[in-house]
Amino acid sequence: MFLSSVLLLGLAHLAASKPLSVKRWDDFEVKHAWAEVPRGWTLHAPAPADYMFDMRIGLRQNRFDELVSSLYEVSDPAHSRYGQHLSMEQVHELVAPHHDTVDLVEAWLAAHDLDADSAQRSPAGEWITLRVSVAQAEKMLGNEYSIFRHGESEEYVVRAMNYSLPASLSGHVNLVAPTTYFGTMKSMRATSHINLHAPTINTDIDLLDGPGSLATVPSSCSSTITPSCLRALYNTASYVPKATNKNILGVAGYLEEFANRADLQTFFSRFRTDAVNSTFTTVRLNGGGDDQTDPGVEANLDIQYTEGISFPTPNIYYSTGGSPPFTPDDNTPTNTNEPYLDWLNFILANSTIPQTFTTSYGDDEQTVPEDYATEVCNLFAQLGARGSSIMFSSGDDGVGGGDCLSNDGTKTKKFIPNFPASCPFVTTVGGTIRVNPEVAVSFSGGGFSNYFSQPSYQSSAVSTFLTSLGSTNAGLFNKTGRAYPDVAAQGENFQVVIGGRTSSVGGTSASSPTFAAVISLLNDFRLSQGKSSLGFLNPLIYSTGATGFNDITSGSNPGCGTNGFTARAGWDPVTGLGTPDFGKLQTLIG
Ligand SMILES: *[C@@H]1O[C@H](CO)[C@@H](O)[C@H](O)[C@H]1NC(C)=O
Ligand SMILES: *[C@@H]1O[C@H](CO)[C@@H](O)[C@H](O)[C@H]1NC(C)=O
Ligand SMILES: *[C@@H]1O[C@H](CO)[C@@H](O)[C@H](O)[C@H]1NC(C)=O
Ligand SMILES: *[C@@H]1O[C@H](CO)[C@@H](O)[C@H](O)[C@H]1NC(C)=O
Repeated sequence: MFLSSVLLLGLAHLAASKPLSVKRWDDFEVKHAWAEVPRGWTLHAPAPADYMFDMRIGLRQNRFDELVSSLYEVSDPAHSRYGQHLSMEQVHELVAPHHDTVDLVEAWLAAHDLDADSAQRSPAGEWITLRVSVAQAEKMLGNEYSIFRHGESEEYVVRAMNYSLPASLSGHVNLVAPTTYFGTMKSMRATSHINLHAPTINTDIDLLDGPGSLATVPSSCSSTITPSCLRALYNTASYVPKATNKNILGVAGYLEEFANRADLQTFFSRFRTDAVNSTFTTVRLNGGGDDQTDPGVEANLDIQYTEGISFPTPNIYYSTGGSPPFTPDDNTPTNTNEPYLDWLNFILANSTIPQTFTTSYGDDEQTVPEDYATEVCNLFAQLGARGSSIMFSSGDDGVGGGDCLSNDGTKTKKFIPNFPASCPFVTTVGGTIRVNPEVAVSFSGGGFSNYFSQPSYQSSAVSTFLTSLGSTNAGLFNKTGRAYPDVAAQGENFQVVIGGRTSSVGGTSASSPTFAAVISLLNDFRLSQGKSSLGFLNPLIYSTGATGFNDITSGSNPGCGTNGFTARAGWDPVTGLGTPDFGKLQTLIG
């Protein structure tokens, strides 16, 4: 029926462009292929042909280049558009696919007996999600899906070693998922976990000089970090938030990490008594839970320190589900463990979004397929254009953990950058330790992306560093890549209440919420002056904002059997531009 009507139409349009249905959908071009099964996973079995899953197709965003140039203009304090963030509708116009792209993709779906009308579409239409069987997906993508098992967690995922797209879709489809991203996302307190031997304290009342005074940083902050330490160190203690009816700080949570409300009250009663009885909102998405009998170390750390510094600013904890994704004996459809995409699409679909976000999770960049990383990074560009400041932990393995061998089949030794830390559209936070002076903490993740080229906002700072570095570590990192971290904050000995008990926790997991809370207070200041939020921070902090940081000039981040990089005057890939001085930054942005 479909075919014959097309033939008739075809006669009438002989001289016009070829009807879509005549296209071949089997002249495949490889979109992404792994050389080896991703580390930590083993091939378990072929995926059942009738297993159903939600396939997400990312269409080329027709005016994405304009989105990026708008992002840079509204984020650059020297530009006339500074602070004129885009509305949701304005972003949608720029990321919407061209109608030719939509037509082509719909024809491709129709050729595989899929009903494009029943698909879910993102508001701008650049994401199409529809339920397919493994057999259908394999025909569409010229690949094979299998069940892979993760060694440590014993989780199972349905994924492919590669996927291809018809040549005629080249330049129209950016990403199909789930395909080759296996999702090895981890929390960035991976190395330090809870340090059982570190000292803990149950109240920091003695730290205070007098009631409420935090004029100097107590020396005890070198071994135990509390909100009082951080408020003194980063100079926020005397600031009283005023825009609490508008300003929001968002904490992204994954991996079944639940933020505990009772622990937060205990934490406040011990370390921030004026905040007792204030709480946070939990927003659950994609099947995310909120089990109050199972406090998460990461979740509690994040929320206790964002609230401990930003109080009384409202905080939202996002519990994003997505794990475990697949039970090999159960053929019922489940969600597909694509947590970044789920979280970002959820946030971006809302016309009001928090002005500040922190995320303490990430993957080794090389374990995230480049097309997937690019799509996720581009979604952060949308968030920035909308006026949000987005912080990520830089990672807890210095320049790289383990053997640092490449996974491209050549097993070349090289530094292993982290993603999304390596995305140029986020602000990446490294770690420090001790006070008077602060020094780089040795696990502070830092380095250079192999996917994203160096954005111009940091080229001067990075080239100064590279000149002073000389030939050290030559060949182990990509000099032309996006370099990180951008900034730093304390990352060790954080006093965190977990299950009623105070524990000492570390990791750049602690640094990102700390830095984000300081930024949230700066956003409060801007909003209370009737100004815009700060939005994407990097163009500001590498230019007029640079003098608002305490430069960290000693310590290093060893890894991969090397001494890593060394902190030095100016920007460095251990502590970035340094740690924030709220008072100075307030003057610079005022
Ligand atoms: C894609 O993966 C399959 C195994 O699933 C393999 O047989 C095939 O050679 C791979 N193709 C490419 C281009 O890597
Ligand atoms: C907190 O709430 C409890 C119960 O409503 C109340 O008794 C207590 O006074 C409150 N504490 C503060 C500091 O507001
Ligand atoms: C949009 O975000 C606000 C907070 O920023 C929240 O209160 C509201 O529930 C969200 N709406 C939806 C539909 O998620
Ligand atoms: C180095 O980074 C650039 C992006 O700046 C990228 O195009 C290139 O492939 C990277 N080189 C390697 C060896 O990964």
